[in-house]
Amino acid sequence: MRQAMHVRVVPMTADHQDEIAELERICFPDPWSRNMLAEELDNALSAFLVALDDAGRVAGYAGLQVVLDEGTITNIAVRPEYRRQGVAHQLLDVFLNFARGNRLAFLTLEVRASNYGAIALYGELGFRSVGRRKNYYEHPREDAIIMTKEFDYGTETAESGAAGDGV
Ligand SMILES: CC(C)(COP(=O)(O)OP(=O)(O)OC[C@H]1O[C@@H](n2cnc3c(N)ncnc32)[C@H](O)[C@@H]1OP(=O)(O)O)[C@@H](O)C(=O)NCCC(=O)NCCS
Repeated sequence: MRQAMHVRVVPMTADHQDEIAELERICFPDPWSRNMLAEELDNALSAFLVALDDAGRVAGYAGLQVVLDEGTITNIAVRPEYRRQGVAHQLLDVFLNFARGNRLAFLTLEVRASNYGAIALYGELGFRSVGRRKNYYEHPREDAIIMTKEFDYGTETAESGAAGDGV
């Protein structure tokens, strides 16, 4: 990892949602709207984080939903000019620490089969490909790879897990 960019990771507020919606539009063919993001603020099962640059601008964001002991990473994106500077890694670190701290069984996510950069990122953090959903995405139609990171508390403490993952 190169020198990580300095960001401040904080919970999403209504003030961040225009910037996140803009980033969604830049990154995804079926972007979440500002209204969808606003609903997440009222969703007790959902947590959105933003990474703010030194000017207070949204450099990236990530969303997590937790049901019982299962966590699903719903969104993650970083501004194009801030990529490959560890911003996504820093956001996902917070979710990984949350998962361990709250004894979640696993974190899971779906990713386009052709999204090699994101697949590399998740692989580096210990996510493994566990399945494929045929034609899951549209615009363009494409399979989703399901990637999951399981937490084994029998052998992994918070500290040893962090060291073992390089997280
Ligand atoms: C995928 C995405 C979130 C990664 O964000 P990022 O801040 O650039 O990622 P990081 O800098 O934290 O990357 C950490 C590591 O992941 C891997 N990685 C990240 N992006 C990569 C890429 N494009 N190609 C290859 N490896 C990549 C590398 O190992 C990288 O470490 P390195 O830069 O030291 O080699 C960003 O590219 C993005 O916003 N893409 C568009 C939206 C998207 O596809 N989201 C994922 C939906 S499932």
